[in-house]
Amino acid sequence: MAIQWFPGHMHLTRQAIAERIKDIDVVIELLDARLPGSSANPLLAELTGHRPTLKVLNKQDLADSTRTPAWLAWYNAQPGTRAIALDASERAPAQRLLAACRELAPERKGLSRPMRVLICGIPNVGKSTLNNSLLGRFQAKTGDEAGVTKQEQRIVVADDFYLWDTPGMLWPRIIVEQSGYNLAASGAVGRNAYDEELVALELLLYLQRHYAQALLDRYKLDLPLAQLQALHDDELLTAIGKKRGAVMSGGRVNLQKAAELVLTDFRSGAIGAITLETVEEFAAWLAVGQAKEAERLARKAEHEKRRKKRRF
Ligand code: G4P
Repeated sequence: MAIQWFPGHMHLTRQAIAERIKDIDVVIELLDARLPGSSANPLLAELTGHRPTLKVLNKQDLADSTRTPAWLAWYNAQPGTRAIALDASERAPAQRLLAACRELAPERKGLSRPMRVLICGIPNVGKSTLNNSLLGRFQAKTGDEAGVTKQEQRIVVADDFYLWDTPGMLWPRIIVEQSGYNLAASGAVGRNAYDEELVALELLLYLQRHYAQALLDRYKLDLPLAQLQALHDDELLTAIGKKRGAVMSGGRVNLQKAAELVLTDFRSGAIGAITLETVEEFAAWLAVGQAKEAERLARKAEHEKRRKKRRF
């Protein structure tokens, strides 16, 4: 499934980040703890010149707590990187953010050398919620001083800790097919950019394999576990639609309505705490995506070469 969705003005955003990054000590990338690989933006490292990075696996309350530690360990093993998990119920996120940033840039402290942090993340990952909870305790400054553009926001987290919100949005080119589905399921992608039925079917396929009991419990399906796992995904969506009353006149199941129900339930955590990718799964998907991307680029280069030859 190709997702054609580029929110905001990417060019302006890239320019603004390139400008701001000169004065930044640590980059915080907010990730969705339910899809810690797919919600990361590979473009970011290019733009931030490999600044020390703190990966915050946000919405950990919605993610599978048995899978989050493996993702944290994986990110913590990357050079110049620390990772923590967070959710909106955290009373004092500032303290944990500050501590993690200090580990990455220990020389930045005190009023004369304040920690300057840039926070980034894909849409819907919880950036505004986190910013607001940081703002709750401290004052904020918005674009009314020199060097602060209109789209930028500077949050004073502590006397010697400033957080800059990314202006606009950065959206990566999605080269991993499964990432497209997972991003759509999570709610990161605008509704018009994907087919809800397709996304729900793909989600059910994964849940059947990894969270079958949670599906049985949520939808009170009168089936043995093994039988549920053997259903085709469209049969499963039909069974869920029937159970939840998504039925049209004549008794046919309204699959669009059933798909919307499943996606809403996944997003709210009603099916359970779920993570849609393990470190190993994501690595395998990424390898396939990168190979396909390399082929695409080679084809494009070949095409360009032939076009140039024809012109001369
Ligand atoms: P963004 O700025 O990155 O686009 O995301 P935003 O903070 O607007 O959050 C997107 C949605 O995710 C919001 O729900 C928000 O309440 C929810 N959210 C943020 N952080 C967490 C978290 O740690 N755990 C959970 N479970 N949810 C979180 P919404 O339904 O779109 O809006 P609202 O009804 O809450 O206002």
